[in-house]
Amino acid sequence: MAKDTTLTGVERTFDDDEIIVSKTDLKGHLTYANNVFLRLADMTEKEALGAPHSVIRNPNMPRAVFKLLWDTIQEGKEIFAYVVNRSKNGDHYWVLAHVTPSYDGSGNIVGYHSNRRVPDRRIVDDIISPLYKDLLAEENKHANRKEGMDASVNMLVNLLKEKGVGYDEFILTL
Ligand SMILES: Cc1cc2nc3c(=O)[nH]c(=O)nc-3n(C[C@H](O)[C@H](O)[C@H](O)COP(=O)(O)O)c2cc1C
Repeated sequence: MAKDTTLTGVERTFDDDEIIVSKTDLKGHLTYANNVFLRLADMTEKEALGAPHSVIRNPNMPRAVFKLLWDTIQEGKEIFAYVVNRSKNGDHYWVLAHVTPSYDGSGNIVGYHSNRRVPDRRIVDDIISPLYKDLLAEENKHANRKEGMDASVNMLVNLLKEKGVGYDEFILTL
């Protein structure tokens, strides 16, 4: 059965002193989710553990952002990203995520870890939401998923070029 991606339009919020934490294996399947994660995602621990992280994917997120996320962490680097997620009941919640690889004692990547905090509302409303709408519109112009994603990655790369900054600098100086 296709995944239910309907949205209620209701935004969930969490406190400034809370952190949403999850850990995954190398393929992005959840191996840990804290209580704040479960509350916002509207899931039980049983439902979450072992599920692909895309279980909370919101259809309003552009693919380009997840491509950048995976390319970066698989290279062993950390990334900050604004993400809107979908709760199981269709509500949504915005986060600023910090995603990092986890290493074993020999320096091999053994999984990934994400800590998320409450994002700055002004940045989400004024910059990130409109940017993600543009990226998503570009993706939806293409019948082929891969072509759509490549086009929106290009759009993001060109925007950063115009601004003369890299992705990290762009995100962290908003
Ligand atoms: C540690 C970690 C945290 C992630 N956090 C999220 C998240 O909060 N929301 C989300 O939609 N995807 C998250 N992802 C990315 C998902 O694995 C997936 O790439 C994304 O949901 C797009 O799914 P799709 O390719 O099936 O469309 C995370 C991945 C990792 C490794």
